[in-house]
Amino acid sequence: MEIIFVKDYDEMSLKTFEIIKETVQSKPQSTLSMTTGGTPQGLFEILVKKINEKEIDISQTTFLNLDEYIGPKNAPYSVYRYMHENFYDLINFKPKEIHLINGDSNNVDKEIIRYSEILRRNPRDIQILGLGTNGHIGANEPGTPFDSEIFLANHDDSTIKSTIKQYDLTESEAPTQMITLGFKEIIEATKVILMVSGTSKAKAVKDLVEGPISVKCPASFLQDKDNVILIVDQEASSLLSK
Ligand code: GLP
Repeated sequence: MEIIFVKDYDEMSLKTFEIIKETVQSKPQSTLSMTTGGTPQGLFEILVKKINEKEIDISQTTFLNLDEYIGPKNAPYSVYRYMHENFYDLINFKPKEIHLINGDSNNVDKEIIRYSEILRRNPRDIQILGLGTNGHIGANEPGTPFDSEIFLANHDDSTIKSTIKQYDLTESEAPTQMITLGFKEIIEATKVILMVSGTSKAKAVKDLVEGPISVKCPASFLQDKDNVILIVDQEASSLLSK
């Protein structure tokens, strides 16, 4: 794992954008798999601006996503809605293909097979990840075996609480499950970029970088992988001893 230390959230967003830009410039047909949440919001802002200003041409790219909540397509927390509101509805030039997981399917097993096939047809050049405060990646929560493959995951209580806070939901409105890429699919991408910012992630960063590789900290799976880049800001790296 390569670690890039940056000053703050804005620098983390810009650095990630630069890697995406280089990748798309050297391979215009790149497949980029995104994540959602507070972490990549700044990245999407930069992407929208640079795409609309024609600094980056995404017309031949394919966009995928890491995960999707089980619930209505237009629920305030859905990845579908997030991607549209923060990205797809704001860009004047569209990617060649967009594939989202359907979290509203009445047959989850079938949906998992459908998306696996999409992943197979579209080898990813980049997989963007965020980090849960408990070290989760996608919805691979603590305890998930490292050989997990795209599956229906149950959220930890701490993750449900984060979602409630982020989207201002009541407890009964909060989603409790997601279809998520497993460790197997996450690491298949040519480059895996883990973006981390803020003091709330500092403990998880310490466990991920300095702790043992253990299912207790799902992101520690990435520690010894050569295709992983961790982009971490000063606050999130504040507990690292080295
Ligand atoms: C959620 C998502 C993850 C995301 C993480 C961190 O549970 N399933 O994909 O990376 O939380 O979210 P945030 O970036 O808002 O801190």
